[in-house]
Parts: sequence; structure tokens; C-alpha cells
Amino acid sequence: MALKAINPTETEAWKKLAAHFEQVKNVHMHELFKADPLRTEKMHIEWNNFLVDYSKNRVSDETISLLLSLAKEVDLADAIQKYFDGDCINQTENRAVLHTALRANGKEAIFVDSVNVMPEITAVKNKIKQFSDEIITAKRVGFTGKPFTDVVNIGIGGSDLGPAMIVEGLQFYKNHLNVHFVSNVDGDHVQEVLKQLNPETTLFVIVSKTFTTQETLTNAQTIRKWFLQTGKQEAVAQHFVAVSTNIQKVTEFGINPDSIFPMWDWVGGRFSLWSAVGLSISLAVGYKYFEEMLAGANEMDQHFKNESFDNNIPVILALLSVWYNNFYGVESEALIPYTQYLQKLAPYLQQGIMESNGKCVGRDGKPVNYQTGTIIWGEPGTNSQHAFFQLIHQGTKIIPTDFIGFKQSLHGDKDHHDKLMSNFFAQTEALLKGKTADQVADEFKAQNTLPEKAEFLIPFKVFQGNKPTNTLLIDKLTPASLGALVAMYEHKLFVQGVIWNIFSYDQWGVELGKQLATSILSEIDTENIAQHDASTTFLLRKYLN
Ligand code: F6P
Repeated sequence: MALKAINPTETEAWKKLAAHFEQVKNVHMHELFKADPLRTEKMHIEWNNFLVDYSKNRVSDETISLLLSLAKEVDLADAIQKYFDGDCINQTENRAVLHTALRANGKEAIFVDSVNVMPEITAVKNKIKQFSDEIITAKRVGFTGKPFTDVVNIGIGGSDLGPAMIVEGLQFYKNHLNVHFVSNVDGDHVQEVLKQLNPETTLFVIVSKTFTTQETLTNAQTIRKWFLQTGKQEAVAQHFVAVSTNIQKVTEFGINPDSIFPMWDWVGGRFSLWSAVGLSISLAVGYKYFEEMLAGANEMDQHFKNESFDNNIPVILALLSVWYNNFYGVESEALIPYTQYLQKLAPYLQQGIMESNGKCVGRDGKPVNYQTGTIIWGEPGTNSQHAFFQLIHQGTKIIPTDFIGFKQSLHGDKDHHDKLMSNFFAQTEALLKGKTADQVADEFKAQNTLPEKAEFLIPFKVFQGNKPTNTLLIDKLTPASLGALVAMYEHKLFVQGVIWNIFSYDQWGVELGKQLATSILSEIDTENIAQHDASTTFLLRKYLN
């Protein structure tokens, strides 16, 4: 069954939230903390090895209660049930959305169109396990008998970002294989990767759900040509494998049918790292850790599915985001992991969140009359503190920010970790408290600054504070905790899509540019520029001359 189509702005809760917003919009969080000594006690969630403190937000108990009523009125519970049950909730592509089945424990059947998909999932997992074991232990070797040393993942979007983020994120758990990623159709990207490689010891994993993506097919062909300068045609089967739903196209490319890892149309590209799209993850860290990552994600799935909304991490984070987006008019959210390992988390979630919720038509087919998808950006701390934090602290915009930190470092350097984490805590405190003119004046006095100099500088050194943050404190970066973290954001964006009454699982918005690029490419090839807008025609002529 399809998701219900309920315009959130027509709910009672929305109307009450709008009235409530007028009353509380100027309240400073420090007043809220002063008024309620139990605030943090109430506004945090402890789950497994996650602690989520959301008390540093511009919300009161009443705000949370109204947001929870909104979730009820849009029938979020019904939507969650349909999501996990494999109903056709990706209605515009006529598909279920079942990445959760990929990490299910296999004890229960999960049906798509009355077919239990669990046996096929298990079969593909076994294939991933066997293949990665054989490559890692050198049971399978390259065409000259040498063990594989390098793996190249050739894919783009969901067929690149997820595996690349996790391989980087789990670097600490990695084995001897060097895993590279080629995504851009930019030939320089491919050449820079190829120049590091020996064809005799390199395995290529072509990942494309559709196997029609221009970038991936172009890169795969270029790489095969490069490979054939050294290896013979028969060696291609040993060195190239593919992950796809399009078995026919993969076979036409010349890949051995045994070397195809299937996926299914009910797995969206941006949610596919849990499927065979994650083959390069399993190669990089071994199947055991790959499976631990799936298990961690499954635990988050169970939390999301079964926990009451007031204690449900993805639900609470989504509601807070809706509050800022739709009432404060906030446009973007930052995501700051305090670990260098997660430097690719924000780019990965940019696809997940913005490709999903960047929509302007409601599930009733009508244009929405409110804001949807948030803009996501971020970089690890502390680097980001020395880059864009100025704007978060003293700029004119409100940027709700997620701070993600870990109690333990992986290499165990206490000195570094305490310094890292003191910054982590200090930033959320500074964003909350700010600094008043009086405090700045006192500092100047203590430093014996000349009064006229102090007077001039005071306004520039004031911090208004009252900047919202969520703090996610996790015990340790492990395959399981990373799996749970990613699943948490997947569910958060799902809840937002349900509330905004949009279809989160299609991506028609990427099509127009692809279509135009195809016709422009043939115009460039023939040097025959067709009629475009004046600017594009002018630019194409300049490119050709
Ligand atoms: O450009 C959009 C998109 O369709 C993404 O949703 C997808 O992850 C990516 O292209 C790659 O698609 P494929 O795996 O079919 O090559």
C-alpha cells in the first residue's frame, strides 16, 4: 500500500506549532536551561552505545510535544510499518524501499510482491563472503598468478559514495588490499588512479545498478582498454566483476556471469552500500566486519521501528530538523564528525538526504506550499573549526549542527583524543552560551586594554549564542556503530519525507541534465551546435574554437 498523502500544514499540530513559534522564537536557550534543571535529563536518549543529547535546541517540552503530535497526525507509524513491510512506498517508480531487508537477521520472511526476498539476499551475501575471502587469502589470484594487491571500485553516486565513505571510515579495520575509487567521467581522475596500479595485481569492481550510467561505463571501458595493454582478453574475466540489476548489459560488457553480484530494484542507489554494492567494503575489511556493520544498522532499524517516538533517535532528530526548516526558515544543517575517519560522511549524506528530499511536489501531485529538503554540509572537527565555524558562531544564519564524537580513539592516544574531545564539548557550549558585551568588557579590563580600544572592539567580540546543536556521543567507531549511525540518518530523512508529504525515493531531478548532456555531446562530436539559449550557444562555440 502507498503512503498516505497528508499536507502537514493542514494538520492541527502544524497550526499549533505556528502559533507556538510566534511565542517562543526569541527565547534564548540559556533561559530554558535556567528554567528547567532537568532539561538535559529529559532531552537525551541513551541507546546501545549511543548517547544523543538534544537539549541544546531551541525547543521546550511543549515544542517537542507538538512535534510529536505532528508525527502522529501525518500517521508516521503507518508509514514506518509500510516502509519495513516492503509496501510500494516509492510510488513514482512503482517500487518497495527495502534496504532494511539487506541487514535483517534473516529470521523472518520479508515479502516483495508476495515473494520472500530473504533467500536471495542470503545467497548474495554468501557470494560476497566467499569472493572476498578468496581474494583476501589469495585463493583467487591475477592472470600471472600473483595475489591481488589493489581493488578499484568503478561507480558513481550511490555506487561510489557509500562504499568510499565506509572504506575510509573503517580504515583502522582494513587488511592489506588497497581500495581505490574511480567515479568522475573526468579522464584525469581515471588516469591518476591507473598510474598507481599494476594490472597483474588489480581487481576491478564495476558497480552500477542500471549499468547504463555514462560515467561508469566510460570509465569501465577506458580501464578495460588499459588492462588489455598488458593482459589478454581471457584475463578480463579474472580481473573484472560487476554489481548490477542489469544482468544482460553486464554480460554484454564481457563480464563472466559467475562474476556478477546481483542487486534488486527495491534497493535505491543511495541506500545500497548494504547490498553487493558494498563488495569493496567487504574486500577492504573482510566479510566479518561487513556483517558487523549490517548488524549495527539492523539494531538501529529495530530501535526506529519499535521505540516510542518520544525516545526514538531518528524521529526526534527529524522533528527537530522540521522545526528549524519550516518554522525558523533555516535552510541548511551542518554535520561535524570529530574523527578524521568520517571525512566522507557529509558528502555521502548529501546524496542520501538531498537526492531524497529535494522535492517540490507533494504526494498528492500538487506543488508544496512549504519548504522541504535541507542542505547538508560538513567536515570533520577540528579542521572545520578553522574553516567555516566563524559563520556558525557569528554569522547571520542559524545552522543547526550535529556534533558526532567518540569516547575512545582507535589508536588510543589519550593526549590527542582529550584535546580533540575538549574541542568537541567546547564548541557546543560556546554555540549555546555565546559571550555577552559585559563579559567581553571584563576580559578587556583584565587585560588592561585601553578603554577606547575596548569600546571599539566589544561589538565584534560578542557571541549571541543560542545556536542549536545535537551531540551524538558514541563509545567507539566500529563497523557496528558506523552501520547504526548511517541507518540513523537514513531513517531521519525518511521521517522528514513522510512529514513533508513528498516521495523521498525517486530522483527525477537528475535526469534533465543527463538528457541535455547526451545531445550536447553529439553536437560536440559533430561540431554542429544546435539552437540553445544564447549563453549556452556562446559557451559551446568558445569550447569548440
Ligand atoms: O544520478 C543519479 C543516480 O541515479 C543515483 O541515484 C545513483 O546512485 C547513481 O546515479 C548511479 O547509478 P547507477 O548505480 O545505476 O550507475
